[in-house]
Amino acid sequence: MATLLWGYLRVPIMFASGLGAVVSSGLYYYQNELIYPRNIPANARTDVPRPAQLGLDAEELSLPTPDGETLSAFLIKPGNVSKAKNVTFIMFHGNAGNIGHRLPIAKILANEFHCNVLMLEYRGYGLSTGNPDEKGIAKDSQTGLDFIRGRGDLKNTKIVIYGQSLGGAVGIDLAVKNKDHGDIAGVILENTFLSIKKMIPSVIPAAKYLTPLCHQVWPSEEMLPGITNIPILFLSGLQDEIVPPSHMKRLFDICRSEPKIWKEFPYGDHNNTVTEAGYFHYVQEFLDKYIV
Ligand SMILES: *[C@@H]1O[C@H](CO)[C@@H](O)[C@H](O)[C@H]1NC(C)=O
Ligand SMILES: *[C@@H]1O[C@H](CO)[C@@H](O)[C@H](O)[C@H]1NC(C)=O
Ligand SMILES: *[C@@H]1O[C@H](CO)[C@@H](O)[C@H](O)[C@H]1NC(C)=O
Repeated sequence: MATLLWGYLRVPIMFASGLGAVVSSGLYYYQNELIYPRNIPANARTDVPRPAQLGLDAEELSLPTPDGETLSAFLIKPGNVSKAKNVTFIMFHGNAGNIGHRLPIAKILANEFHCNVLMLEYRGYGLSTGNPDEKGIAKDSQTGLDFIRGRGDLKNTKIVIYGQSLGGAVGIDLAVKNKDHGDIAGVILENTFLSIKKMIPSVIPAAKYLTPLCHQVWPSEEMLPGITNIPILFLSGLQDEIVPPSHMKRLFDICRSEPKIWKEFPYGDHNNTVTEAGYFHYVQEFLDKYIV
């Protein structure tokens, strides 16, 4: 089962072929289908691996959004209560698959690092209702954070935002909008991009004049400098074939928050950076030094 689930992590992220099709054929209205390939892998909308399959102590939740969607979420608790840390992760995944595919990551955070983990499903993904777009997903991430703030057992914990790929953009947006609240203790970003628009010229140079057609922005390059005084860990796979690693480097360079920590994986590609040696060691070091 564990191997199978790690296999699910290696889902194709459709930026390259997807955006190529969008801009070359001008299919403006199909952008969302291509930027948010929520049906990949096949059955990703119905087959969601469940925490119990990995022996995890978890609540399966349905969280209502202010605009009437219902989000599926898992709240994973530390396996050993007596070691529980005062930390809650909120996890945002990449643009394919569902939260169930990322359970092996949550298992490590909960059972080895003894943290709470909220795995939030975006609208239109997995068992959540609705259709994804930038505005909607931003409402979803806020719904997840507000849920943590409203729970007696979580509200006084240190919140760590953890985003992979598209989830990094979601996390940056959320951190900036909530920075004055004072409860976000850390941000972890893996293989994320400067903006969707900046993905286009690097992925398909000939299409650069068509970037104004792109209506999903996710402007992390503009937003990230708005985060201050929150420790940020950057995890960059140098073999990333989807998001050029230069995007992560640039985000690190323009980041004004301190401390900011850079860790790179010489053999990490877009899919497999999370399984590279050292990855969870760096996460643990970040937790021990800057969060707990
Ligand atoms: C990422 O995963 C997808 C789906 O398994 C695969 O097609 C693609 O080749 C992978 N990319 C790399 C560089 O391994
Ligand atoms: C849980 O942690 C406590 C304290 O470190 C330890 O004594 C106990 O053996 C652990 N229980 C399990 C089931 O690992
Ligand atoms: C947990 O962290 C919060 C936020 O930093 C803090 O206010 C609270 O006192 C901590 N609680 C414990 C039990 O350490």
